[in-house]
Amino acid sequence: MKIVIVSSSLNPDSRSQLMARILQGLWSEESFEVELIDLREAELPLCDGGSAYGHPEVARIQKIVESADGFVFATPIYNFSINAALKNYLELVGRSMEGKVGGFLCSAGGALSYMSTTGFMNSVMLDFRMIILPRVVYATGGDWNGDELNETVSERMKQFADDFATLVGKLAN
Ligand SMILES: Cc1cc2nc3c(=O)[nH]c(=O)nc-3n(C[C@H](O)[C@H](O)[C@H](O)COP(=O)(O)O)c2cc1C
Repeated sequence: MKIVIVSSSLNPDSRSQLMARILQGLWSEESFEVELIDLREAELPLCDGGSAYGHPEVARIQKIVESADGFVFATPIYNFSINAALKNYLELVGRSMEGKVGGFLCSAGGALSYMSTTGFMNSVMLDFRMIILPRVVYATGGDWNGDELNETVSERMKQFADDFATLVGKLAN
């Protein structure tokens, strides 16, 4: 079994990227494989619906995606949605996640954007028959002490780590 964490913030000081690494750390002793795709490092072209699909970086990312059973999307909340880099990833390689498990870690400025991942969730459920864990880890600016999440969100992250791995384990071939 393999889980890929797609971490989509392009900000060098990103908090959702920290969340991705906290989750990766929680899984470090597990027997399954975990790979992080940091979209700051991936040099994906913007999807143009045509020639971008032939880009060598798309082929490289697609290969990683095809090898996985589950995907955690660690995303910033921008304008009550996921960020554009994650949407671009979806447009380029989303089909390779067909029928697999998805889950979300979100970093937002405030609490009012809590349901911002709903549109993206619906699209991957409908388009790619993804099975989404109904537990989102959502952290606001006030949930951090430096680079560490407060106790409440840390507990939620542990619960997410357990539930996500259990769901992927049950559905992986
Ligand atoms: C363009 C832009 C749009 C944003 N829109 C929202 C928003 O709709 N709701 C919200 O709670 N925070 C919003 N924020 C704040 C970010 O979600 C917050 O800074 C978050 O930590 C960004 O994630 P990152 O640190 O992983 O890059 C926005 C920030 C930017 C730069």
